[in-house]
Amino acid sequence: MAEATTLPDASAWALDPDLAYLNHGGFGATPISVLAEQQTFRAALERNPVRFLVHDLPGLLDGVRARVAAFLGADADGLVFVDNATTGTQTVIAQMCLQPGDEVLATDHGYPAALTQLRRATEAAGAVLRIVPVPLPAVSREQVAGAVLAGLTGRTRLVVVDHVASCSGLVFPVEEIAAECRCQGVPVLVDGAHAPGMLPLDLGRLGADFWVGNLHKWVSAPKASAAFYVAPQWRERIQPLVASHGLADGYRPAFDWTGTRDPSAVLAVPAALDFFGRAGWDAVRAHNNALARRGAALVAERLGTSPPDADGLAGSMRLVPLPEPLAEADARALEGQLLREHGIVVPITSHGGWRWLRLSAQLYNTLGDYERLADALGRRYQIA
Ligand SMILES: Cc1ncc(COP(=O)(O)O)c(C=O)c1O
Repeated sequence: MAEATTLPDASAWALDPDLAYLNHGGFGATPISVLAEQQTFRAALERNPVRFLVHDLPGLLDGVRARVAAFLGADADGLVFVDNATTGTQTVIAQMCLQPGDEVLATDHGYPAALTQLRRATEAAGAVLRIVPVPLPAVSREQVAGAVLAGLTGRTRLVVVDHVASCSGLVFPVEEIAAECRCQGVPVLVDGAHAPGMLPLDLGRLGADFWVGNLHKWVSAPKASAAFYVAPQWRERIQPLVASHGLADGYRPAFDWTGTRDPSAVLAVPAALDFFGRAGWDAVRAHNNALARRGAALVAERLGTSPPDADGLAGSMRLVPLPEPLAEADARALEGQLLREHGIVVPITSHGGWRWLRLSAQLYNTLGDYERLADALGRRYQIA
């Protein structure tokens, strides 16, 4: 009989043990061993900056690229590193050559910064940003894909979808959306900020034109590590936002050097992949998804609300509706109060005119974290 692997617990992380940290989706959190690995790269850099950055870095980056490409099911020639998902979406949106009257399609789950990028680009070009609603609770992959695809018109020049949405945790049926868009000749940009580590991925099968995913969220790599993938037909056109020495040498060299910076976060990504890989990614995902589901059910039960039944359309982030409407300033005040008075870190998001608690689950969380939140909110709403 195979021996059950023990999953690492909170002692492996650098997080303050007094917190109920229910926002892994916000900025991730990095295990102590991965931070130590990052520090060895920083030390090597500082021992001999020229040797490290000029002589060693290209080979080191190629090694990380091969590891991450295998993890994402991506062709390594299309995979480069950027600091974050925001940089990845901006890189694509800035180079779409929109014309007056063109349309860009996004959804009302879109990340606010990406929507800001789209608004700026469409306004500058005299193009139209069409934002389609995808109502909660989502019922099925077909329904979600249908809601997105209903926004396509003969003028659509780009579709932007989340892989896992920030405001809702909804896992979008990206494969189905990309397949239909391919038939209609419309390129698709996937904002996969939360996808690596939370979902099993095969970018080769996914069929998106552009995809960016943070490695500092659910892979728990150090901050400022994101994978950016561009399909072969676009690699001659897409350049980094910052031009430097490698620009004339093609897609990969152009992205591999965009000026002097600290590459240690990206170089520590294999340590983060190993950290979870030793436990087994399937076991990690199964644990996190089950804990997020149980935690959300527990909090919702105390509040007397029902979490959207999102099985099959959710991963390690689940929503719980708050029992009453809350103005923006009050939602931020409640987040602050939960942190200061109860040591609870949880975001309150907004979708469809309602406020939601977005509960993350990572290996360092226990059911006790969700119980602490349920108790605090129970007192606030005077629920026994
Ligand atoms: C869906 C989505 N896209 C983009 C981002 C931005 O990520 P970053 O700040 O790392 O660029 C986030 C961050 O939470 C997100 O949830």
